[in-house]
Amino acid sequence: MPVPRSERTADILEAHRRYLFPAVHPYYGDDPLVVERAHGHTVWDIDGNAYLDFFGGVLTVSVGHANEAVTARVIEQLERVQHTSTLYVNEVMVRLAEKLAALTPGRLQRCFFTSSGSEANETAVTAARMATGNRTVVTLRNAYAGRTLETMSLTAHGSWRLGGTFDGDVRHVRNPDRYRAPLGLDEEALVELCVRDLEETLETLPGGRIAAFMAEPIQGVGGFVVLPRDYLRRVEPLVREAGGLMIIDEVQTGWGRTGGRLCGVEHWGIEPDIMTFAKGMANGAPIGCTIATPEVADAVTGTTFATFGGNPVSMAAALATLEVILERDLPDNAERQGLRLRAHLEAAAADHPFVGDVRGMGLMQALEIVAADGSKRPDPERTEALLQAARRRGLLVGRGGLRGNVVRIAPHLTVDAKEIDDGCGRLAAALRDVA
Ligand SMILES: Cc1ncc(COP(=O)(O)O)c(C=O)c1O
Repeated sequence: MPVPRSERTADILEAHRRYLFPAVHPYYGDDPLVVERAHGHTVWDIDGNAYLDFFGGVLTVSVGHANEAVTARVIEQLERVQHTSTLYVNEVMVRLAEKLAALTPGRLQRCFFTSSGSEANETAVTAARMATGNRTVVTLRNAYAGRTLETMSLTAHGSWRLGGTFDGDVRHVRNPDRYRAPLGLDEEALVELCVRDLEETLETLPGGRIAAFMAEPIQGVGGFVVLPRDYLRRVEPLVREAGGLMIIDEVQTGWGRTGGRLCGVEHWGIEPDIMTFAKGMANGAPIGCTIATPEVADAVTGTTFATFGGNPVSMAAALATLEVILERDLPDNAERQGLRLRAHLEAAAADHPFVGDVRGMGLMQALEIVAADGSKRPDPERTEALLQAARRRGLLVGRGGLRGNVVRIAPHLTVDAKEIDDGCGRLAAALRDVA
């Protein structure tokens, strides 16, 4: 059980309250967690409490905290050269781009590096607009694309769209969320409905033309809503007919997270024109990557610049992270441990009628928390209580969903069976605590 809050913790929290934007809102209400250090799969707060980490700093620390191979490469790179800007060429950036061209599906070949997922998505949209000469981007309800003006416009969560957005060139179409399918439609009928919604939306546009359709294979912030397998294959021809490109946002699903494959979209059987990555790609070093086909990349004519784009330290961290993922076959581990995690979650859910849905793929699994009366009414209060109970039990998990009622569980890709059992034991206890 956690020890009482120390003076140091109280002091840091007071300074946080005074000197940061209040919009920087940590988890756990009045009792935020102040992290002191982290190693492997454990995080310690400054009062000495240890937590098993099943969230990885939002699916970012993919190969474990302070991973030795990644840390060694980062230190080596820091000592060699820390910063160049994109005005000079650095070898690690070029080597990473070369590797990504080989590892990503289809004809994706040219990269643009930035420092975040938001910037990666901004770049994708700019490239799609320049390559097609069209402006409108169609994306899904419940999407999260980032915190810049354009990506907030693409985001379909009111709570994440601060201060006015650029909605004119964005359309949000119905997302195929099986748990919340209207009128109890089955998966096939739901996909039909969503495809029809896209067709009708395209009909509302001048000339029916778009720059792109953009989607996450699993809606991350949206609560790990897994797109049905057929959906993207059904959407693709409509998008192409409308002159648009397929942009797949793999900021959460990339690099083994979904199990069995490096990129999430490989499970869906389409070849995107543009893909974006960030989070888990560099184990916590700031990175954003937009990768496109040669035609799309070459259409971005003129000059563009990112001070921190291709930063050698982030590039070295990404190269080392990818090496660990490949050498240890972590997509395979994510698949095996993901199945084990899922079995535990389903067993726990069977005891609690307020767990409405268990879903996800690989090491990206979620519980949707609802009223226990079968109405599917979202229960964000119990979700918050569950997060806090898990913390008291020494387990960190995340929260998400349009209605704030989804628990997101995403252990590091390096997790083993013993840790899955341990974490799920703690989560089961937390579920009992809030029952
Ligand atoms: C799917 C997806 N795209 C884009 C972003 C934005 O990434 P960043 O926070 O690095 O700007 C996020 C962040 O959570 C995300 O989940």
